[in-house]
Amino acid sequence: MARKGERVVHMGRPISFPVALLLVAALVGFVRRCDGGVTSSFVRKAEKTISMPMDSDVFRVPPGYNAPQQVHITQGNHVGSAMIISWVTLDEPGSSIVLYGTEKDMLDSHAEGRYNQYTFYNYTSGYIHHCTIRRLKHDTKYYYSVGIGLTARTFWFTTPPSVGPDVPYTFGVIGDLGQTYDSNATLTHYESNPEAQAMLFVGDLSYADNYPYHDNVRWDTWGRFVERSTAYQPWIWTVGNHELDFAPELGENTPFKPYRHRYHVPYRASGSTSPFWYSIKRGSAYIIVLASYSAYGMYTPQYSWLEEELPKVNRSETPWLIVLVHSPWYNSYKYHYMEGETMRVMFESWLVQNKVDVVFSGHVHAYERSHRVSNIAYNIVNGKCQPVYDESAPVYITIGDGGNIEGLANEMTEPQPSYSAFREASFGHAIFKIKNRTHAYYAWHRNHDGNAVAADSVWFHNRCWKSADKNECSV
Ligand SMILES: [Fe+2]
Repeated sequence: MARKGERVVHMGRPISFPVALLLVAALVGFVRRCDGGVTSSFVRKAEKTISMPMDSDVFRVPPGYNAPQQVHITQGNHVGSAMIISWVTLDEPGSSIVLYGTEKDMLDSHAEGRYNQYTFYNYTSGYIHHCTIRRLKHDTKYYYSVGIGLTARTFWFTTPPSVGPDVPYTFGVIGDLGQTYDSNATLTHYESNPEAQAMLFVGDLSYADNYPYHDNVRWDTWGRFVERSTAYQPWIWTVGNHELDFAPELGENTPFKPYRHRYHVPYRASGSTSPFWYSIKRGSAYIIVLASYSAYGMYTPQYSWLEEELPKVNRSETPWLIVLVHSPWYNSYKYHYMEGETMRVMFESWLVQNKVDVVFSGHVHAYERSHRVSNIAYNIVNGKCQPVYDESAPVYITIGDGGNIEGLANEMTEPQPSYSAFREASFGHAIFKIKNRTHAYYAWHRNHDGNAVAADSVWFHNRCWKSADKNECSV
């Protein structure tokens, strides 16, 4: 270390002590801001993603006349004591009743839902049933049966513990899944982790719109494909661009028509006026779902809802604040570059002010994790237009790597931007494992590895609870 009066050699030229000090300070600042972004050395072999054919076993129709299929569940109210059960019958409407109970052989409660149906170009859907079962006990295993009176099928789920600050809870994270052989590998890989209790799905479900005439049969096959997970644990849905199904050339002018009929969410419970943006509490997490493809400018319903929603989050009750949105705000791949920029401009300062812990996005078919950065100082004239390290900012994770038919996004902007901590173009899924109010363990698993291997992992330190006895977000 240079002492005052000593000369230091920098790039072959002697420099003075004050200049050396400045250089050291700049280097420390740089490391603090960037912490050395890594582009993974793992290079996945470039291969085309291939649709699973219609006669694949994962698309098999359950046996029996009018047997319920495409069974999926999602949280049914704001605190996790209700569940929305959805399924499809093809031959006739059948019953919309769900029988349920805590003993497999004694389903002594029931609830009645409704069914709907829609047409899309030359396709007519089956009968899509949705039934909300309420007043469930927390942390309890329930069995439920659908298809009553015809060919009944029975499944089970476990409700989350009561909402509370130190409730351990493990979420899976998948995006842009589709229905290819790679999609199947991702789902199988996810299922091999016995700890995951609910799925945070960040949009782009079936990719039916990539098939001729938006072939809605591919919505049905996707529902059957994922049933092995969606019937047993709630998937928290985010809407993506592949849910738009906006096809005026086919006479289909109503955006989100198939998705809206098939996937119900508890949006009214959080005061939302649209199923595309809403919130839930689950265990120690508060999850806010945003809509990239609905208006979010000032005065719009989504803007007004989020403005009122964020102050409602009580970090003493739910320390972990998680945001799901399809189009990423920080993305260093050459695909969909800056598509999320306008929403970032509208909402980023709110997320920083409210110390959101993590934002999960999809859309880009690869994986990336950011440092804690924000880019909220710019005001057109001050020139402050670079992301900077920010303790209060979320980590941004892009995980649109479920394995859909459009293939991998394997071209990256170079050099790796300073906000990008780790990136890799592989398919996979992640686990967000909340331990208590201060710590959560996060791991991303690429499909090429066994489940025990985490290709990227990091401990999350809660933004409000940096120590267990002080909520730094409370006033
Ligand atoms: Fe997308």
